[in-house]
Amino acid sequence: MIKQYTSKIIGLGKYVPDNRVTNDDLSEFMDTSHDWIVERTGIEERRFIPKDSPEGTATMGVRASEQAIERAGIHKDDIDLIVFATLSPDYYFPGSGVLVQDLMGIGTCPALDVRNQCSGFIYALSVADQYIRTGMYKNILVIGSEHHSGGLDLSTRGRTVSVIFGDGAGAAVVSRHDNLDEGIQSTHLHSEGKHAKELSLIGPNTKKWVHEVFENYDPDDMDYHPYMNGQLVFKNAVVRFSEVILEALAKNNLEPSDIDMLIPHQANLRIAQFVQKKFGLRDDQVYNNIMRYGNTTAASIPIALCEAWEEGRIKTGDHVMLAAFGSGFTWGSSLIKWV
Ligand code: ACO
Repeated sequence: MIKQYTSKIIGLGKYVPDNRVTNDDLSEFMDTSHDWIVERTGIEERRFIPKDSPEGTATMGVRASEQAIERAGIHKDDIDLIVFATLSPDYYFPGSGVLVQDLMGIGTCPALDVRNQCSGFIYALSVADQYIRTGMYKNILVIGSEHHSGGLDLSTRGRTVSVIFGDGAGAAVVSRHDNLDEGIQSTHLHSEGKHAKELSLIGPNTKKWVHEVFENYDPDDMDYHPYMNGQLVFKNAVVRFSEVILEALAKNNLEPSDIDMLIPHQANLRIAQFVQKKFGLRDDQVYNNIMRYGNTTAASIPIALCEAWEEGRIKTGDHVMLAAFGSGFTWGSSLIKWV
């Protein structure tokens, strides 16, 4: 008989840069205000890597991973696979997964990069879960890390996008587990490419390549700045978040009231509050930290999950729901029976 496994998270870690940037700090660069940002997004401050710092997407991922591995009680050489999710890789290529592997001195295990933006951590978790269920790997390091601040347009022109994002990293060690009723019970992934450009950073790309960046770079070419159709993103997010949470509940024969902790991707506090209200969840059933970190995209779920666990808000036996929506558009969820 083929042995069946499930997977469980045995260690969580997070890292955010020390440098706090308040809404008032941003209003020194652009025409915005603390009240506008809080009212529309819930964000009060975010962390930015200082311009002269050597810190980056991979190094933040390393710091979060070291904490996760230590808490997991395993050795870094026990890692069988690294899955790294980001939309802000250190290099065009290679991906940041191999950089983490090198910086941490982790032998020659495979390192896989996932490019699914705000849904990146859930996609990465799903990849890890599948490799563990097949029996191929035992311990997988899943990382979400973003260095947004270096690429944001911090002038008034870019304010709709740039007030939202912040830097940070989160990591989870996902490991083989024998009790099929515990750990990651299901993951659900979706995408809809017709909206690819509605939340995107187009350049540089393979049509606007190195010669253009160096010879013809035009700082007013908006392809080089993140673009977001905010209202379309908002409208799709509230629908897709709800759908994919319902999908995970149905798969596991659960009702919304069975959710002990919902960790939504920290896109915008108003989106999380909409979802909370739709499912009739109390404040203690939803974890939000966007107020302190802004939207850290692929890092937002592992940072929030890590903090919720550190604060004792997730207990053995809890049903933990992760859900995300973002650029692509992509969206996903995962239902975890916490052990
Ligand atoms: N400060 C002050 N004023 C601003 C700012 C700012 N930072 N940004 C835009 N404005 C102005 C606009 O110029 C506009 O002025 P006008 O009426 O004179 O033209 C006015 O505010 C309204 O602009 P809108 O873009 O219509 O603002 P909206 O109410 O849609 O709010 C927001 C923008 C907050 C981005 C909203 O659309 C939203 O939350 N969208 C969801 C997107 C999201 O959450 N993205 C997260 C990243 S994606 C993800 O992770 C899912």
